[in-house]
Amino acid sequence: MKTLTIIKPDDWHLHLREGLVLKNIIHFTSELFGRAIVMPNTKNPITSIDSAISYKKSIVEALSESSKFEPLMTMYLTDDTDKRELITGFKNNVFFAAKLYPANATTNSSHGVKKIENLYKIFESMEDSGMPLLIHGEVTDPEVDIFDREEVFIDRELSPIVERFPKLKLVLEHITTSYAVDFVQENNIGATITPHHLHINRNAMFFGGLNSDFYCLPVAKREKNRLALRSAATSGKEFFFLGSDSAPHLRKWKAFCGCAGIFNSPVAIESYLTVFEEENALDNFEKFASLNGPNFYNVPPNKGKLKLVSKPNKVAEFIDVVEGENIVGQIKPFHAGETLKWQVENISN
Ligand code: DOR
Ligand code: ZN
Repeated sequence: MKTLTIIKPDDWHLHLREGLVLKNIIHFTSELFGRAIVMPNTKNPITSIDSAISYKKSIVEALSESSKFEPLMTMYLTDDTDKRELITGFKNNVFFAAKLYPANATTNSSHGVKKIENLYKIFESMEDSGMPLLIHGEVTDPEVDIFDREEVFIDRELSPIVERFPKLKLVLEHITTSYAVDFVQENNIGATITPHHLHINRNAMFFGGLNSDFYCLPVAKREKNRLALRSAATSGKEFFFLGSDSAPHLRKWKAFCGCAGIFNSPVAIESYLTVFEEENALDNFEKFASLNGPNFYNVPPNKGKLKLVSKPNKVAEFIDVVEGENIVGQIKPFHAGETLKWQVENISN
């Protein structure tokens, strides 16, 4: 039986939601990860210091008493973002980073940015103060094919930002194309890669009829892109790090509106590990999961360890959302019903 012990990982891109869903799912992340960057696209987006403080409080209250998990909060940029609020929040350790959603690019992004150039003054201050900018990199121009939106964003929006703000700490989130893989390395910026984009290509959405279980944004692309992502993630290169983009949606909503998002936190580590094993790159897993992120963000790696063992691991069909004794909803996890080859054996703080 193979085992692998790594420094406790961090999740550099995570959706935790609020209320009951938050309470029911937080443990999947908090038990295995030291920290997570929490996305601010809650129903009422996190656009102020006060809202970030109260969201963080609700997350911490949902943790078990002994948990050492640290949620890292982000500010949701809008056309009206107040520069002082942003930078003050960063300097006072309320915000770890700012998140840029182009308006209507994805779930809960209607308050996002309509004209990115209007934020250049803000980027200037972020560059000066070292505040990271996390980007959902897709254009929303309806003329642009959905499968091309990341590449067009890189050409139209990201290239000018990189050129104009060479010292701005930039992360292109959940990359999905070989074009993005190349851009990230050529321009020395950071990128998160999700487990689902390493496992599925765009066919997954169309097997056996339209299947919203595999619908996320940016959508999975052609196979050649998946292969480029696999080789980037498993390369051990410093640009690429773990960001699950785990995004829970209640089954009833997913089935009804096909909302974008894949809930992978119950299996994220095991899912990534499967890919690293298939690519003969288990030696690089610790870099991707536990070292490259801290190195990029200038924070120390976690102190704890995670021991993984290669044993069959049957994934549940659904995760229940409970309120007291009652099941009030269900969420389908990524790899539902599959048997993965790895499981977590031991966690130390
Ligand atoms: O698939 C996605 N789901 N992509 C995002 O950018 C947002 C996320 C969500 O919040 O559900
Ligand atoms: Zn996300």
